[in-house]
Amino acid sequence: MALRKILSHLNPALHKKCKLVENFDDKLHKLLDDMRDTLVESGGVGLAAPQVGILRRVVLVDNGEEILELINPTIVATDGEQVGPEGCLSVEGKYGLVKRPYYAKVRAQDRNGNWFEAEGEELTARCFCHELDHLDGILYTKVMERWLTEEELMADED
Ligand code: NI
Repeated sequence: MALRKILSHLNPALHKKCKLVENFDDKLHKLLDDMRDTLVESGGVGLAAPQVGILRRVVLVDNGEEILELINPTIVATDGEQVGPEGCLSVEGKYGLVKRPYYAKVRAQDRNGNWFEAEGEELTARCFCHELDHLDGILYTKVMERWLTEEELMADED
């Protein structure tokens, strides 16, 4: 088990466009394994490679059943919309109100380079969008409608 340090949004790595993964090698597999450990340890639902300082198109999304490894992912279909609270492991202690599609389908490669599709609704669709945005250097704070207030956060915890 190897944990990687999660960078804060103040780090320039969080604001850069990531490169495509071309080599599906041991180095990629080590990154994925470390990101998985780091995500589980953090208690979050998604993690993007730039959050651990690696500017490659790699994200993990926990859909509630398993942790999906998405390499070179793109969103190929969306439907509906949802407006709700969103946070980020790189923006500690804060939440914003963000509009996302209710449903999203992604196409991505697995750790061996094979293409597959994955889909999700609600939190999983939100997470797909949030994590893929990270690969283009976009944080939710750039697309949110507004910050959530302390009162709203406390109400959400009830
Ligand atoms: Ni994030």
